[in-house]
Amino acid sequence: MTADEEQRRIDSFRQAAGRFASGVTVVTTALDGHLYGITATSFVSLSLNPLLVTVSINVHSPILDEIRASGVFAINVLGRHQQQVSACFARRGRGRSKERFDEVETRTEATGAPVVTGALSWFDCTVHTMLGGGDHIILVGEVVSAGGGTGQPLLYWSGEYRELSVEEEDRAVEADIGRISDSLSVQLHLHGMRTEQLLEAQHAVEPAAAALAAREATDAQVAQLRALVEESEKHVQDAGRYNPLSLEFHARLGLLSGNPAIAASVGALNRPRESAYAVHTNAERATRAVGAHRRILEAIEGRDETAARRLMTEHLGVVAQGMHC
Ligand SMILES: Cc1cc2nc3c(=O)[nH]c(=O)nc-3n(C[C@H](O)[C@H](O)[C@H](O)COP(=O)(O)O)c2cc1C
Repeated sequence: MTADEEQRRIDSFRQAAGRFASGVTVVTTALDGHLYGITATSFVSLSLNPLLVTVSINVHSPILDEIRASGVFAINVLGRHQQQVSACFARRGRGRSKERFDEVETRTEATGAPVVTGALSWFDCTVHTMLGGGDHIILVGEVVSAGGGTGQPLLYWSGEYRELSVEEEDRAVEADIGRISDSLSVQLHLHGMRTEQLLEAQHAVEPAAAALAAREATDAQVAQLRALVEESEKHVQDAGRYNPLSLEFHARLGLLSGNPAIAASVGALNRPRESAYAVHTNAERATRAVGAHRRILEAIEGRDETAARRLMTEHLGVVAQGMHC
């Protein structure tokens, strides 16, 4: 193979690899009171039993010696606002302990390896294995502890930093709220919620959710809500199919309010509501409820906050009568 052919092969490899989208991490370690770190996108979560992760590091990177000596490292997954942190740990040079950690705050968790403040998530590891892989070493870490919060990731694709688009971001926010409301929902369910308490809670949050949805929801979100109501109209005879769609209508209004506290609160009522509705729904009630959902939808489509609030209050009143009898 000529030198030109070889170069073309390498270029194609680089280009193909660059099309793989990834998150961005900083791999850190501490040795004799000094801190070390390097930006790496080659993180992979490897195994659940035992808990293992891998990251591949260039054989010439001095951090490998430090990790070998300390026996520990942390992988910090960067959030969308941490592009500077990534750039900082991608600079070459040995004096990284002083130079690089001046710009970021860290703390320690289990092993003593630095965990970057504000990282989206982190894995605190002891060294499990170091495997040869061409000009990189595949560092396998046994995860001693891991953690993280909610938020958006920093992404790397085609040689550039990226962020999730607004639509994807909306979905990620919904997933975050979904997790919060789900755990609250389970706890409320286990705690045991009486029907009157459920109704009081619904009255406290859902009219506000409907009014805010009339003000805040985008046209695309309102169109999705219409599709949901139309789907639920088809299943009023079948409680098994109707009930989840009806619950989804209420949860969706919470999300469309644009207020995470209201969205999480409405979602949190789902499980207690699920058990109450399963007992009380029949085709006649479902038909009445879906009519009310349609009127609320139309008020939202008309951007009429007052009507949306009033119609939801009325709807909850009718639902309450059904549940008391
Ligand atoms: C987005 C991005 C991803 C990177 N991923 C890796 C990686 O997975 N492994 C690696 O060895 N270097 C990776 N690097 C390069 C190192 O961060 C960079 O070479 C750093 O300066 C090495 O520090 P050192 O000179 O102390 O070894 C990446 C750099 C950037 C900007």
